Amino acid sequence: MERIHITDVAPRDGLQNQRVPVSTDAKLALVRLLAEAGVQSVEATSFVSPKAVPQMADAAELVPRLTAALPDLRCSVLVPNLKGLERAHAAGAQEIAVVLSATETMNLKNINMGLAQATEVSEQTLAAAHRLGLRTRAYVAVAFDCPFEGTTPLAEVVRLAARMHQAGADEIVIADTIGSASPAQVKARFAALREAVPLAKLAVHLHDTRGMAVANAWAALEAGVRRFDASVGGIGGCPFAPGAAGNVATEDLVLMAAQSGFETGISTDRLIDAVDFAESQLQRPLGGRAIPWLRRQ
Ligand code: HMG
Ligand code: MG
Repeated sequence: MERIHITDVAPRDGLQNQRVPVSTDAKLALVRLLAEAGVQSVEATSFVSPKAVPQMADAAELVPRLTAALPDLRCSVLVPNLKGLERAHAAGAQEIAVVLSATETMNLKNINMGLAQATEVSEQTLAAAHRLGLRTRAYVAVAFDCPFEGTTPLAEVVRLAARMHQAGADEIVIADTIGSASPAQVKARFAALREAVPLAKLAVHLHDTRGMAVANAWAALEAGVRRFDASVGGIGGCPFAPGAAGNVATEDLVLMAAQSGFETGISTDRLIDAVDFAESQLQRPLGGRAIPWLRRQ
């Protein structure tokens, strides 16, 4: 069976915008359940301004505890700038992700920099991370539509993905920030992207606002993408992108992959424990489209 790689971003994308405070102990417990389900990579947290994203204020406490508790788990952390990298490195992070949006306004809203500055800061942060021996991911956000500027020109997405590749990003993560893409668009965008960036370095990060995230994941699979972000229980959304709903649910993606002959190493049965736990913490029903069926026994 061909393998696909899934990074569960629930601890970061899933929790960053929750109204209910989630303790560091609970975050650790959630990641432990993910690891027990067979998840090999998570995006654990972000080193951003605690004023901008209060839920991620405990990043410097969480990372050393996670690394000690789960040494075999690949743990990435989101950093928006050099200060974030410095804090992540001091906490012992081994992998970082920079976040570059493909439009001027989205960068301003998200990280208070315009596109040109955000590109340069992302390049500098990637270079500094490599000097420290860290693995790197680079998001290209609003790679389909921007909530402020409408459809993002494909040429701009390709240009920025290529810049992040040239800057040495080990993985370039193409993100449908507001979950507005269709399978046909995913197919067309990845056909262009793979001309500029080696396919093995491309990943896709899908939100499920319009219920098309699994179909979009399938389109990405058919386009040759083998690296996916997903979030257990389908939680997620950028607080600075109006209209963003949760990410594609890990349990839906794993089920689709398994039924289509792809190996993920992840057990849907065990993922249910993580969904149950997240529900207990966030005090509301969670789960992707498949969760009632997965829970049927
Ligand atoms: P700013 O106000 O422009 O920053 O914010 P500044 O450089 O002027 O500094 C202001 C204060 O923030 C200073 O502290 C800095 O030290 C501090 P003060 O002197 O006032 O006490 N500061 C920091 N503190 C902690 N960590 C840092 C850091 N940098 C500066 N790294 C900044 C700029 C980027 C910090 C801010 O806008 C921010 O934190 N934004 C958060 C962005 C964010 O987390 N967005 C959500 C994640 S992205 C996403 O969800 C999309 C994604 O999922 C993909 C997709 O779906 O598309 C990845
Ligand atoms: Mg996201």
